[in-house]
Amino acid sequence: MSEAWPIGAAIEPATLGADPYAAWSRLREHEPVSWVQQLGMFYVTRHEDVAAILKDHETFAVGADDMLVYDTFGRHMMTIDGPEQVRMRLALRGPFAPKSVRERLESQIAAMVDRLIDDFRAAGSIELRRAFACRLPVQVMLSVFGLPAEDETLLRRWYDAFEAALANYTWDPQVRARAKSCVGEFKAHMRARLNAPGALPRASLFAALLETPADVRLNEEEILQNALIIFFGGISTVEALILNTLYALALHREVMERVRTDREALVRVVEESARWLSPVQAATRVVTRDVEVAGVAIKSGSLINCILGSANRDPRVFADADAFNIDRENLSRHLAFATGPHTCLGSNLARAEVRIALSRLMDRLPNCNVDLEKTARPSGYEFLQPSALVLRWRV
Ligand code: HEM
Repeated sequence: MSEAWPIGAAIEPATLGADPYAAWSRLREHEPVSWVQQLGMFYVTRHEDVAAILKDHETFAVGADDMLVYDTFGRHMMTIDGPEQVRMRLALRGPFAPKSVRERLESQIAAMVDRLIDDFRAAGSIELRRAFACRLPVQVMLSVFGLPAEDETLLRRWYDAFEAALANYTWDPQVRARAKSCVGEFKAHMRARLNAPGALPRASLFAALLETPADVRLNEEEILQNALIIFFGGISTVEALILNTLYALALHREVMERVRTDREALVRVVEESARWLSPVQAATRVVTRDVEVAGVAIKSGSLINCILGSANRDPRVFADADAFNIDRENLSRHLAFATGPHTCLGSNLARAEVRIALSRLMDRLPNCNVDLEKTARPSGYEFLQPSALVLRWRV
């Protein structure tokens, strides 16, 4: 096998994180379907192949009960395929549609952003990840679930346990047990919220669910299972996109200057940042029948990692793909939020959070800029972001 797949066989996952794009480029050009010996899975790196796989849920399924996401959260829209998954999405998508995000959540997001900025506005500089980017998405989730602000610490604790469990590649029993106990706490907390509808804020997901017609409404257990993945999906991802977008602007000062005076351009900045520095670099699928991908035979039961970060830099689709260009015509073809039946449910919310965050930071912190000397370069081969980012402004 190592002769047939020489590049993948030599890949050391631990070293990929420092600059995954160099590895993606080599794989994409020379070995677009590659057997990565160390991980026991195929990497698929071209846009066309990645998109085709993500759209074909019958041949490339999400679920298998030996996957960490299933082990941690069980059955929900992200671990099943077919009509059941479609039913769950249909029942839950309403609150995440653009109009709903705009009308129900945007003003709350702006208020949260402003409160966070108030805490450090006088300082002149801040490490933004800890003070802002990792807190905002948790606070937004409080709104999504109609929970009080005091629950932020609780949600953070649960999230950290879930995140550890989803990266628990050694299946450490203590990490699994802690996550399962937090799943129990999360569900009990949400169940109590769900069953006190009189107190549910109108903007919350649960209030919207109760408005859903009875024939598509999910039962309580289904709602709680899906609430877990909605919560999990919306935290580190948004944190990463806030930081990656600022980092991209720091490297492209002319775009930063343009956005300071033309806030409309922020929509394209966020989109191009999602393409150029994709927070979620990979989506995994299990092959359900013997199949060929780009001429490579793959056996039923194999695992495939669709490298979204690589697809988003594929020169076959994006002209001058390594350049950060907010004016590119086919920006919307990026796969940062995946595609097909499991396309990100929260992409409109994520876009709104990042756009509002950047707009308010620029409005309220005069002449703010990233201090690149004190900022870590985005890294990570499955999940990409700077580990810290320092922002400076005029006080
Ligand atoms: C920049 C931020 C985000 C990025 C880059 C992102 C990326 C993704 C990607 C790539 C997938 C597909 C995974 C796969 O096919 O294996 C996905 C699915 C999902 N995301 Fe997001 N996401 C973001 C924000 C959010 C937010 C804010 C929420 C919740 C409100 C959310 C909820 C979900 C859910 C529930 C799914 C599963 C959908 C399904 O299986 O049908 N995401 N996301």
